[in-house]
Amino acid sequence: MFSNKKKQTPGIDPDQKEMIDNARLRIKQKRGLFSHFIVFLVGSVGLIVVSQFFIKSEIPQLLGIDWWIWIIFAWALILLYHLFKVYVTQKLLGPDWEKRQYDKLVSKQQDRINKLQGKVEKDYPLPDAKVVITPTKNYREVTMIAAAGNDDGLGKDGQLVWHLPDDFKRFKRLTTGHHIIMGRKTFDSFDKPLPNRTHIVLTRDKSYTSDHAIICHDMDTALAAASDDPQPFIIGGGEIYKLGLPYADKIELTRVHGSFTTDAHFPEIDESKWKLVNSLHHPADDKHKYSFDYETWVRK
Ligand SMILES: NC(=O)c1ccc[n+]([C@@H]2O[C@H](COP(=O)([O-])OP(=O)(O)OC[C@H]3O[C@@H](n4cnc5c(N)ncnc54)[C@H](OP(=O)(O)O)[C@@H]3O)[C@@H](O)[C@H]2O)c1
Repeated sequence: MFSNKKKQTPGIDPDQKEMIDNARLRIKQKRGLFSHFIVFLVGSVGLIVVSQFFIKSEIPQLLGIDWWIWIIFAWALILLYHLFKVYVTQKLLGPDWEKRQYDKLVSKQQDRINKLQGKVEKDYPLPDAKVVITPTKNYREVTMIAAAGNDDGLGKDGQLVWHLPDDFKRFKRLTTGHHIIMGRKTFDSFDKPLPNRTHIVLTRDKSYTSDHAIICHDMDTALAAASDDPQPFIIGGGEIYKLGLPYADKIELTRVHGSFTTDAHFPEIDESKWKLVNSLHHPADDKHKYSFDYETWVRK
């Protein structure tokens, strides 16, 4: 449990740090441009004064124009180039542009993986698969992942009411490397943070802090904190699934075949809005007291 670590100073999120670094760089660039402009103004006035009042001999010319005019002209071009670099090149090809390119690449990779996965599932169907349909292409796929009993029960007294190792493994495989958004009670139920995942915790308590999670107070902010993740996961519990359902594009639901006494529930899936695209049965065995189905739902 995390009971005695909650009031510590929050660590800075790498995304926030990158934004701060970018802002600093922009300020530095703009300050540099302004200094250049001032030096140009002073230098130009200096050149005019020197050429007009201090040089008594005939001023050399190029193409009939005095040399100092050429210098000011060349300098103005350099200043223009500087201005272009700061306001046009940086804007079009700066960090935001790099990030968009990166996101596009990730999105393409995701599509390719989805297509390959669909092909594999079609060509080599697993024995218990009832429906095998390739999940539809969707760049940012907000996904809710849960395990619920037949009556939608999720857990009791802050704990799960079953032990399904294969479902844990699947949860780990799907969520590793991603942002996981959860309610404060679910976060409190962890012994320690889940490795290789960015934890985002929702709480109404404005004084709540943690070294292990980004703390948010509404779902919009939580999803914004995961904006660079093509597939952020909402991992519960009951209150947060209810809050997250309107934002979700996909639900990975493990339907556990049993009725349990629970105090947190998964919200009802409205079949006029959601389509079951995949269902894979897992029988009960030595390690799994209950049978269950891995169901994948996508928004219609
Ligand atoms: N089977 C599964 O897949 C699964 C997955 C996850 C969890 N669970 C189980 O679910 C149970 C926990 O679920 P739960 O519903 O009791 O709690 P929860 O959803 O994990 O967390 C509820 C907390 O979230 C915060 N919250 C709720 N709505 C909010 C809003 N609109 N804005 C900001 N913060 C908000 C509040 O925190 P504050 O009180 O700090 O304000 C609230 O107390 C446990 O038994 C757990 O084991 C099961």
